[in-house]
Amino acid sequence: MKRRHFLAATGASLATGALASTLGHAAPKNALRLLILGGTRFIGLHMTELALARGHSVTFFNRGRTNTDRYPKIERLRGDRNGDLAALAGREWDAVIDNSGYLPRQVRDTATLLEPKVRRYLFISSVSVYANFLTANDENSPVGKLDDPATEKIDEATYGPLKAACERAAQAVYGTSRASVIRPGLIVGPDDNTDRFTYWPARAARGGRMLAPGTPRDPIQIIDARDLAAFTLRLIENDVGGVFNVLSPPEKFRMGELVDESIAAAIEIARPATKPVARWVPADTLAAQKVAPWSDMPVWVPSSGDEAGFAATSAARALRAGLTIRPMRETVRDTLRWHLARPEAERNALKAGIKSEREAAVLAEADAR
Ligand SMILES: NC(=O)c1ccc[n+]([C@@H]2O[C@H](COP(=O)([O-])OP(=O)(O)OC[C@H]3O[C@@H](n4cnc5c(N)ncnc54)[C@H](OP(=O)(O)O)[C@@H]3O)[C@@H](O)[C@H]2O)c1
Repeated sequence: MKRRHFLAATGASLATGALASTLGHAAPKNALRLLILGGTRFIGLHMTELALARGHSVTFFNRGRTNTDRYPKIERLRGDRNGDLAALAGREWDAVIDNSGYLPRQVRDTATLLEPKVRRYLFISSVSVYANFLTANDENSPVGKLDDPATEKIDEATYGPLKAACERAAQAVYGTSRASVIRPGLIVGPDDNTDRFTYWPARAARGGRMLAPGTPRDPIQIIDARDLAAFTLRLIENDVGGVFNVLSPPEKFRMGELVDESIAAAIEIARPATKPVARWVPADTLAAQKVAPWSDMPVWVPSSGDEAGFAATSAARALRAGLTIRPMRETVRDTLRWHLARPEAERNALKAGIKSEREAAVLAEADAR
């Protein structure tokens, strides 16, 4: 895999009753004590919201820098995964959710400290662990190896192999049945701090002709952070170990649905002065104009060459274990509503997607062909 597409990260409020039933079964009889390493950003916020709605208690462990205003009543333990774990010592929880482990040393240290007093260690990994995307991957596919096993430099080449090493560190301490490993695909939805999926409804909300990549039939894979949260809690409540890819199944979603739903949501919710209209430009034309998949055109990677299997990762095991995938329409609309409520400076400085002047130039060039 060209690791430029690595999935590293760089709450919307819902009614409690609706949330609690997200897992498709009643809230558990036994409230669980959960520790979240991280917790105050994107996926941690959704996990917290659902866990509280289902009657569990949550403790955050972090440095106290990110979103300090969110969930003010939750117990917060202050520390640092790089050398200051003192606040965790001697405490007991039913399960730990590790959202913020990027280096095997960090996971080894927390797992070793917590193992005697915490039954389950759930590590949030990534589908970026796979050695390549030449063909479709499932959980048995080989994972990437580090050129230098001692490296702690996180970049596009090392992110995936380091996450694979983190998985092994959790399993080495907890064993494969008490460790749960989740490998999400691109995580999307409200509170996403990467702006990749958000680019599409946000772009449609600006109105006018918008560049759309490849063909409407091009497959994409995503996971709504709320569906990820529901699956995470399902594994914990049912005490399930093992390794699971967590993303929409291959062929379920296509670029056309993302663009069409973004346009429909924009017209209804944002009401731009000029109606948004998609102009589909073929992959080879975009390549000739140096428009990059994933960064300029987020979420989209053409299924060819060494990325032929990028949008074909199996979700079968997680689906059998109860993963549910909400309709694209819901994710797009909730993301757009959240985006429109952000401070103006954030809305105007999206971290992903082609800039508008360049988009106009690419469209003009495509029209002239
Ligand atoms: N975004 C995607 O599409 C995607 C796809 C696949 C997998 N993933 C995985 O999903 C997770 C991303 O989660 P996220 O974006 O919600 O959060 P994140 O960026 O990984 O972590 C942020 C949280 O961890 C805390 N934190 C960060 N550094 C810390 C440290 N040194 N010591 C203690 N706490 C620390 C932060 O609070 P403080 O700043 O206050 O410490 C915050 O609560 C990652 O594991 C990533 O590999 C993401």
